[in-house]
Amino acid sequence: MTVKVLFVCLGNICRSPTAEGLFKAHLKNAGLEGRVQTDSAGTAGWHVGKAPDARAIAAAAERGIDINALRARQVTKKDFFEFDYVLAMDSANLNDLLSLCPKDYPGRCCLYLDFAEGAPESEVPDPYYGGAEGFAYVLDLVEQAATGLLADINQRHLARG
Ligand code: 4NP
Repeated sequence: MTVKVLFVCLGNICRSPTAEGLFKAHLKNAGLEGRVQTDSAGTAGWHVGKAPDARAIAAAAERGIDINALRARQVTKKDFFEFDYVLAMDSANLNDLLSLCPKDYPGRCCLYLDFAEGAPESEVPDPYYGGAEGFAYVLDLVEQAATGLLADINQRHLARG
């Protein structure tokens, strides 16, 4: 069985591709690439088909993570039939997702930082209108959530085989 995780922000060019790239690195380290699939999407369709923002690519590259090949897409209702986790970067994203989410969705649709125990924020701030430090801070935050998400996946999905 494959577990599927979707990371969601507004434009799908800054936070969610960063979260996806970083989480993929965690999966690789844990030897779980074959058991967990990832994707990312935006609640808005403005940047569909585009690569991540150059500042997000640069900030990720500084930590050895290559997000160059990711391409933006817009989240759809169908995603809830495919993904076990639909994880929002901020509460505006989450509200938009909840308006698409079927009532009987069996997976988890929540804030990504719900998995980041002890993090200084509950949401990942939008770095789009700021400088490079905002992009580095996104990496700091999603790093903290990655460990908790992996533990949740292990406990809910993989421990039973
Ligand atoms: P993201 O950041 O949601 O983290 O991808 C943004 C990207 C683009 C815009 C806003 C936020 N925009 O207004 O185009």
